[in-house]
Amino acid sequence: MKTLTIRQPDDWHLHLRDGAVLKAVAPHSAVHFARAIIMPNLVPPVVTTTDAAAYRERILAALPEGSSFTPLMTLYLTETTQAEDVEAGFRDGLIKAVKLYPAGATTNSQSGVRNIETAYPVLERMAAIGLPLCVHGEVTDPTVDIFDREAAFIERVLEPLRRRIPELRIVMEHITTKDGVDFVRAQGQNMGATITPHHLIINRNAILAGGIRPHYYCLPVAKREAHRLALRAAAISGHGPFFLGTDSAPHLDPLKECACGCAGIFNAPNTLACLAHVFEEEGALDQLEAFTSLNGPAFYRLPPNEKRITLRRQDVPVEMERKVSVGEETLTIFDPMFPIHWKVED
Ligand code: DOR
Ligand code: ZN
Repeated sequence: MKTLTIRQPDDWHLHLRDGAVLKAVAPHSAVHFARAIIMPNLVPPVVTTTDAAAYRERILAALPEGSSFTPLMTLYLTETTQAEDVEAGFRDGLIKAVKLYPAGATTNSQSGVRNIETAYPVLERMAAIGLPLCVHGEVTDPTVDIFDREAAFIERVLEPLRRRIPELRIVMEHITTKDGVDFVRAQGQNMGATITPHHLIINRNAILAGGIRPHYYCLPVAKREAHRLALRAAAISGHGPFFLGTDSAPHLDPLKECACGCAGIFNAPNTLACLAHVFEEEGALDQLEAFTSLNGPAFYRLPPNEKRITLRRQDVPVEMERKVSVGEETLTIFDPMFPIHWKVED
């Protein structure tokens, strides 16, 4: 029996959705994480400070009695976002980041940005006030192969943006490639990156080899093995710019298991157990706390959590739930395809 006690983790990239799904999934994040950066890609999206304040109330109402989970709200950047509104939300303490979705890149991104130049005035204001930009780093050019879209985004969008506004603090969300890792490593302190548990565990074979498995489909899509290994090396390095963002992104099962299934992996219930497995496998359990609980707060200029959690390794694999119910429907939980031996102690 082995235990590991670390500061309570935060999730720096989370989709909680709304309505019945929000009610069903929020407790799974709240039980493990102290805080989470909440993605704004609802329908309609969370565009203004007023939208974000209302969404925050709905999240708080969905939490279990007595939960101290803190949703850190973001705004969805559009071509008509007003710098004044963004700054007002930031000064209020409500808005912790702004999210850039290239229009058409992923779930509910239609209202996103087509031409990054239209967003420069808002981005310049964010740089001036120190408000981070979270980016979905994929180009939408249909001539670019889907497995190359992250690398193309770095070259076409991120490098020019860094040159134009070097003071802008950017988080490259859910990096999936060695290109992403190398790019972030080469930047100064204004650049961070989140890494998901599933991109540390699966490569593209999980989706496509031996049958098509929609529950492993997400965006950016998992890449070749060499990329997964580069992500692992970054996550276990303890290096400051790399931190946990689960990208837990629930879609009801019928919307995943169909001819054109939605992108997204729902992993909130077993993220920490999976990560403990990965870090143990890498002989790097001593770096887990940096990845889950220290590097993220440092980037977002927030104190790390004072509370501690203990992970316990048991010899007999833990019985994991496979589904979460939402009324009559279900959400499938990420299956890491290995037995899980780690459990967060109550
Ligand atoms: O797989 C994904 N699902 N990637 C995203 O970028 C969005 C997310 C969602 O909202 O479903
Ligand atoms: Zn996401």
